[in-house]
Amino acid sequence: MRHFVIVGILVILTSILTYLGLSAIGLMPVEASAQAVPIDWLWNWEMVTISFLFSLIMVPLAYSLIVFRRKKGDMTDAEHMEGNYALEITWTIIPLMLVLVFAYLGSYSLGLTRRADPNAMIIKVKAQQWSWTFDYPDYGFTSNELHLPVNKQVVLQMESADVIHSFWVPEFRVKQDVVPGRVTEYRITPTLIGPYKVRCSEMCGTSHAYMEAPVIVNAQADFDSWVSAQKEAAAAASLTPEGHGQQLVLANGCRGCHTIDGSVLTGPSWLHMYGNPVELSNGTTVIADDAYLKESILDPKAKEVKGFAPTVMPPFKFTDQEIADIIAYLKTLK
Ligand code: CUA
Repeated sequence: MRHFVIVGILVILTSILTYLGLSAIGLMPVEASAQAVPIDWLWNWEMVTISFLFSLIMVPLAYSLIVFRRKKGDMTDAEHMEGNYALEITWTIIPLMLVLVFAYLGSYSLGLTRRADPNAMIIKVKAQQWSWTFDYPDYGFTSNELHLPVNKQVVLQMESADVIHSFWVPEFRVKQDVVPGRVTEYRITPTLIGPYKVRCSEMCGTSHAYMEAPVIVNAQADFDSWVSAQKEAAAAASLTPEGHGQQLVLANGCRGCHTIDGSVLTGPSWLHMYGNPVELSNGTTVIADDAYLKESILDPKAKEVKGFAPTVMPPFKFTDQEIADIIAYLKTLK
């Protein structure tokens, strides 16, 4: 009986220490959405349970190893034990109850994260290898940054142009796959102003690791001024060929593979591309002029650039006018 009391006290102490230790190392990033609250609440109860179960196994094990080890010179056999029904029933019933309780808590929390506000603002999200594009149908512009007003529910209606991607902002906790051929929904109510980042969390090819986009939670006034700046910029840009070209490039996710600062992703950078020689994989060199660029947009496999996998870029269907505008934009980067 004395051993049970000692082990019982040690189990309780170890549980508390384990829980405090796990809490102190900060396993979760900051909590930045209303949906994160029930998830973190559930996570906390899981940590409590895990700390207790860990201690319940480790403490008696360690205690037995130390206290009941064989004494010097003791050559007798250990005591022979038959099964113990009471113990077996207990360690079946208690875990069963735990699993049932957590199944209930899990579905309860899931229900809370799915709670829909009928006035939620709609944002259309397009995922493609390897970029995110955010379309604000209420305001009529497209952005590569996701700006959200604080304390307002938004619903992201997400589509994929190619393979399965997954929209994940760790600070919001909720994660949702983006699946080709269907629209998936992601509801979120950001509660903390600040900059975050969406990551793709479904392995989707060569540049999966770089498939990120800024997510910025603004105060309502800042969000409103960002929206009007975007609207003005979109209206002004559509008046010039290069501005229109830039919008097309943005809306089609080209920047997921092509940078404008000289760094290299899955495709060649556009910086200093126009008018300069391009080395091809067959050893020849071409000048990146209008004809070459047009051909490469419509049929990327026609001339393969050295050092880049030819099968990555899909052909894009643009009108002649659109291609001329895109080339006008590329000229601004030379
Ligand atoms: Cu898209 Cu990984």
